[in-house]
Amino acid sequence: EGTVLRDYLRLAPVIPVVTITDARISIDLAHALVRAGLPVIEVTLRTSAALDAISAIAKAVPEAVVAAGTVLAKSQIRETIDAGAKFIVTPGTPPKLAQALSEATVPVMPGCTTVSEAMALADMGFSHLKFFPAAVSGGVAWLKSVHGPLPNLLFCPTGGIDRASAASYLSLPNVACVGGTWITPADAMRSGDLAEIERLARDAASLRGQT
Ligand code: 3PG
Repeated sequence: EGTVLRDYLRLAPVIPVVTITDARISIDLAHALVRAGLPVIEVTLRTSAALDAISAIAKAVPEAVVAAGTVLAKSQIRETIDAGAKFIVTPGTPPKLAQALSEATVPVMPGCTTVSEAMALADMGFSHLKFFPAAVSGGVAWLKSVHGPLPNLLFCPTGGIDRASAASYLSLPNVACVGGTWITPADAMRSGDLAEIERLARDAASLRGQT
């Protein structure tokens, strides 16, 4: 399972974190992101359209690796897998949710903010963690500091990262990729400006990861 997730996270330096309010845009959006070189897409479960969007992308855009993000409750694990999510992302991972996630049939990238949380998740077998909210929780300096004591963990820092700060995260040996919403800004999503999104995605794809 760790290997599958590692392979997904190697596909692109940036995971667009996308909130979709109208599922009708999802297939064209996924095509645009894939074309631009960002095939790994985290669709947040923050809207009623999210599961339909995941399912549409999973069915119609096989080149995309669609993940379910903002998974907060145990019940959402089965729903997202049934919709076709290739992996699951959480913003934080309280113990009961971590236990349920450890039994999921797809790979999971659980969220953490502290060393103790990272250690607890590593102890359960998780090897790739979302470091969230990255920028306000120590950012690049935090990641540099934990690489010594926790050399086997890889992170996807997300939260407050933009085009300008992404490169400094991606230069770190324990960063697999970064996540962010700057590729799919709310106004471009609202107006369906896929040309602008594709431009931002191409620019993000030109950043390079380490692992
Ligand atoms: C997430 O769920 O990962 C965050 O909402 C990312 O948002 P940001 O990249 O705009 O901080």
